[in-house]
Amino acid sequence: MENQSQPTVFSSSARNLWRAVEPSIWTSNSDNIRRDQALSVLKTLLDQPRWLEAYLLYDERGSQLFEQICKLPEYYLTRTESAILAENAGQLIRSAPVECIAELGAGSSAKTLHLLREQVRQRGTGIFVPIDVSLPSLVASREIVRRQLPQLSFSGLHARYQDGVSSIEKSLPTLFVFLGSSVGNFNHSDFVQFFDHLSQCMGPRDFLLLGVDRVKEAEVLEKAYDDPKGVTADFILNVFQNINRIMNCNFDAGKMRYHSWYNREWQQVEMYAVSTASQEIRFPSYGASFSWPKDDRILVEISRKFDPVRLQQQLQWFGLKPVEHFTDPKEWFSLLLFQKANSSESG
Ligand code: AVI
Repeated sequence: MENQSQPTVFSSSARNLWRAVEPSIWTSNSDNIRRDQALSVLKTLLDQPRWLEAYLLYDERGSQLFEQICKLPEYYLTRTESAILAENAGQLIRSAPVECIAELGAGSSAKTLHLLREQVRQRGTGIFVPIDVSLPSLVASREIVRRQLPQLSFSGLHARYQDGVSSIEKSLPTLFVFLGSSVGNFNHSDFVQFFDHLSQCMGPRDFLLLGVDRVKEAEVLEKAYDDPKGVTADFILNVFQNINRIMNCNFDAGKMRYHSWYNREWQQVEMYAVSTASQEIRFPSYGASFSWPKDDRILVEISRKFDPVRLQQQLQWFGLKPVEHFTDPKEWFSLLLFQKANSSESG
């Protein structure tokens, strides 16, 4: 796999950081991904109060469970966003004259197909660069794109967003796509860091398409994150199997339960694992441990909800100029298109 020729999407300085792991799929260094995960666990689980970074939820089982969540009747986000994309893909692609579409946290790229089809229809060709920490998701995305849109060139990046985004050639006009309201899974400090980094990596002809879930009644939100089949509970608690694997820990799945609620003040759904019996958690390779008392909780994930107008205002601070705003008839979800501002326009 090593001798595949490098795709043109990489900047010259990034080229030797990447090697092929699969046909048309590149990794910056999978050892780094594993080390990053271990560092993330140590940084957040030994913190007080204990919490976790959302990307740890997406091991193979986690990715499968998330695909199931997207089909649940209570989880309106995916189908609402997909309908907005289906209706407005033509206008979106006309407004963003790019050669490359780079998708952050792409999963199987099902929703992005609306944009890719329009890119091919309007421009006859294009480059698709999905960025994801899940290799099986990238393989699934490659197969779908090859089958449905053979006119597109495909380069999957097996990496965290930061590494993928910073390796894309700045002079290549690119539409960065960050869908599904995944930005809502960042806390305030990670949110600021993310947009600062993304904006610095964007070239003068680049755009950003952001899908965000909007503030709405608590009842709708609480149902969306606590389905009666328990798929969301399985998804959230599965993270501890992944952590046991990453750090050789001893979290006991039989001694925890799922709890979630909508925090109106912070405009976020909070998803917790609650210990149902006291347990001693060990990190043998690191020489650390902590006791997790009965009824004590760990914040596994937050899902922030947004006011799109305020968000447009905040992202201008990072040099991202609002261009278009699409929503659904109930105004539950928004798709926001931004353009990288000249340095004289930002701040
Ligand atoms: C991926 N992300 C946007 C989902 C969300 O809605 O926050 C993750 C999720 N967690 C539980 N259900 C869905």
